[in-house]
Amino acid sequence: MNPQKIYILGIESSCDDTSAAVLCNEQVLSNVVASQKIHELYGGVVPELASRAHQQNIVPVIDQAIKQANIKKEDLHAIAFTRGPGLMGSLLVGTSFAKSLALALDIPLIDVNHMQAHILAHFIEEDGFDIPEFPFLAMTISGGHTQIVKVNAHFDMEIIGETIDDAVGEAFDKSAKIFGLPYPGGPLIDKYAQMGNPKAFLFPKPKVGELNFSFSGLKTSVLYFVQKKVKENPNFVAENLNDICASLQYTIINILMDKLKKASKQTGIKSIAIGGGVSANSGIRRALKEGEQKYGWKTFIPKFEYTTDNAAMIGIVGYLKYMNKDFTNMSVVAKARMRF
Ligand code: KG4
Ligand code: ZN
Repeated sequence: MNPQKIYILGIESSCDDTSAAVLCNEQVLSNVVASQKIHELYGGVVPELASRAHQQNIVPVIDQAIKQANIKKEDLHAIAFTRGPGLMGSLLVGTSFAKSLALALDIPLIDVNHMQAHILAHFIEEDGFDIPEFPFLAMTISGGHTQIVKVNAHFDMEIIGETIDDAVGEAFDKSAKIFGLPYPGGPLIDKYAQMGNPKAFLFPKPKVGELNFSFSGLKTSVLYFVQKKVKENPNFVAENLNDICASLQYTIINILMDKLKKASKQTGIKSIAIGGGVSANSGIRRALKEGEQKYGWKTFIPKFEYTTDNAAMIGIVGYLKYMNKDFTNMSVVAKARMRF
């Protein structure tokens, strides 16, 4: 018997990436992402500009996703969209578009929690990538999020730790700005760090309880450190960039790994999945692999295009919810703040 082929369109517009994807069951047929370059000029995401760009991008991005998947929109079984959390003006664009298209095609509409999607991205079927078994721990690290989640089942998740202020990606990006690097500075810090000495400078680790994180103090200490050193030597940053980046990255990775070790110990769970843009960091990848040797962990890092904001992760949640017949209706509204 041929298993049924379910086609889902996923739409993501929570921040500064407009994305659409088509999945056939758990496989991705297309995943189109239009990243908004405009924010680079401002050193961070400008919400009003983001929603305007989503409006311009959404139709061509969805068209392209359907074309690349080699299907017709009439073949779709459901539309899944990011309801929240995110920037309200950005979410509204995807939500309104998803509603209209579902109405026009007379197919079910599925609302998706963006944070759950970062985690469920691990259930996309992709050659060479394993799918975690329940329960597992998921650490979502990006420019907007820093969370450790205990995942008991697809839709049974518990946040056991999160940041009380800045996200880890912000710690990278804001520090990079202090060093005079362009936005987003995370990948550049990673690049320079690979040529530097991680023990050259000492940055403080925050004292924050349980499994929570705090990164705003680190950013302030980076600022004071640079201001002090530049007073003594105006060329300090340029002369020591590799060592500064290596030391900062070393500190951030230690902070993340300390909490992950604690979470694994507390829960007794050794399956660890990561997601979000910061999971591209070479240092965190290395530290996780070391965790496999040192603590007997099994670690899961998805394909890079499914770790940053993308619609394929919205599509996989759409598929899982479709199989549960978990649909929403036309009265659904976007939500800037949203828990599981
Ligand atoms: O998931 P993402 O694309 O968007 C959201 O923020 O939701 O993550 C972007 C973040 C930025 O803060 C960027 O600097 C960071 O991920 N990032 C990195 C690296 N690549 C991306 N941070 C450190 N090292 C990297 N290699
Ligand atoms: Zn995200």
